[in-house]
Amino acid sequence: MQISNWVNYWLFLPLKLMVVVGGQAPKAIRSVECYDFKEERWHQVAELPSRRCRAGVVYMSGLIFAVGGFNGSLRVRTVDSYDPVKNQWTSVANMQDRRSTLGAAVLNGLLYAVGGFDGSTGLSSVEAYNMKTNEWFHVTPMNTRRSSVGVGVVGGMLYAVGGYDGASRQCLSTVECYNCNSDVWTYVAEMSTRRSGAGVGVLNNLLYAVGGHDGPLVRKSVEVYDPAINTWTQIADMNMCRRNAGVCAVNGLLYVIGGDDGSCNLATVEYYNPTTDKWTVVSSCMSTGRSYAGVTVIDKPL
Ligand SMILES: *[C@@H]1O[C@H](CO)[C@@H](O)[C@H](O)[C@H]1NC(C)=O
Repeated sequence: MQISNWVNYWLFLPLKLMVVVGGQAPKAIRSVECYDFKEERWHQVAELPSRRCRAGVVYMSGLIFAVGGFNGSLRVRTVDSYDPVKNQWTSVANMQDRRSTLGAAVLNGLLYAVGGFDGSTGLSSVEAYNMKTNEWFHVTPMNTRRSSVGVGVVGGMLYAVGGYDGASRQCLSTVECYNCNSDVWTYVAEMSTRRSGAGVGVLNNLLYAVGGHDGPLVRKSVEVYDPAINTWTQIADMNMCRRNAGVCAVNGLLYVIGGDDGSCNLATVEYYNPTTDKWTVVSSCMSTGRSYAGVTVIDKPL
């Protein structure tokens, strides 16, 4: 690399950390670790106040939120927030519903908790959290019950991808889209395959559905949705079969973190480069194999 490029890289590329919250290893854990892209290393940070896997995890207004999940005995409605500057977790208002394997996303300044499983049934219900009032409120439910659902926001719309419909006992290929201005859910094009526990992420205004499973079959296949043409397209397979993995986008790459291959929890991370249509395994693994962890990307605290 030329010196000028090198200086640019260190001075201007925003420093990001990938934070992996809780998960199943094989029981619900409190551990939180983060990957420093510059150092190419993992660090442990403050543990969750209580064990949590299958939670929804987002980054909003400088804080990480871990929403609901399973604590080893119960699906919970509790929510913890993490301040990266103080390296400290605090509890905020509970959701109205218990939910694990939910989807969580930020849209128009609100934190949405979508679907999931309450311990007896898959949920179609959706609620939103207003940080200013510290309150959760229900919005229009989805058309389908979806546990193990993946969500992502593209172009101001929230997409709920696949999952498991307790009623028909089928993994789902259907996808629906939430417009927060009209408070309406609408079906969009289905994926080419059924995926429950897919990792869902957004890169360059495209929605990715990574791995997941259909019954006992764990997938390594990946497909990508372009809202502009309402079409799913298959892309290169991952190196490993994964379901219940975390997904996040950083610096033009899509990262997939952990998950399980149907028998083992995985400590490996791989990333997709859309320019080359290739998956590459990151050389540094997490400290422990974990599935059902929440993953988000934050700005590195100064
Ligand atoms: C799980 O949560 C319930 C209710 O919040 C609590 O009573 C229980 O002690 C928790 N279990 C574990 C293992 O933390």
